[in-house]
Amino acid sequence: MMNIVVCVSGGGTNLQAIIDGIADGKISNTSIAGVISNNKDAYALKRAENAGIKGVCISPKDYPDRESFNEALLEGVDKFNPDLIVLAGFLVNIPEAMVKKYRNKIINIHPSLIPSFCGKGFYGLHVHEKALERGVKVTGATVHYVDEGTDTGPIILQEPVRVLPDDTPEVLQRRVMEQAEWIILPKAIDMIAKGMNR
Ligand code: GAR
Repeated sequence: MMNIVVCVSGGGTNLQAIIDGIADGKISNTSIAGVISNNKDAYALKRAENAGIKGVCISPKDYPDRESFNEALLEGVDKFNPDLIVLAGFLVNIPEAMVKKYRNKIINIHPSLIPSFCGKGFYGLHVHEKALERGVKVTGATVHYVDEGTDTGPIILQEPVRVLPDDTPEVLQRRVMEQAEWIILPKAIDMIAKGMNR
């Protein structure tokens, strides 16, 4: 059984896709040991609770500096003894010590086709605002391994999504979630659980 920890910051629709994927068998041989949020008000924590999964909040606000927060985050992850860490809308820079300790064991979902609209400052709705500003006709989502850079690790899966003429950032975000993120994130976890790396 592959033990995973899911790290979240907000609504947790990707967490929900993982919970549902495990329940309906789309993700095999995997169990969620715990959910970690940097934000105590994240609805994702409620989703964890509803599914009977242990959820903890580790917030930078509760620590005097970044270093002690980073240590607490790593300790929090270690406690669950995970085989894989899934960043599902986790809007925190992953500490280098964590990347080193869990090399090739951390994956992230990003709401664009990397290398477009990624890197520093590209997260959540901003990604879709930038895609619309640039006028791209196709966008999508990417699941990738996490390395020391921002969105620079090896790509596992990508799925394209059409941009439509009247899209707002919110409408496009929802389509990218429905047609790409909620499909490829569970699929990537299943692939890793089955021992296929890429
Ligand atoms: C998702 O669109 C995810 O791809 C994005 O945040 C959203 C979280 O939604 N992540 C990033 O932008 C990471 N750079 P959710 O909480 O409903 O899953």
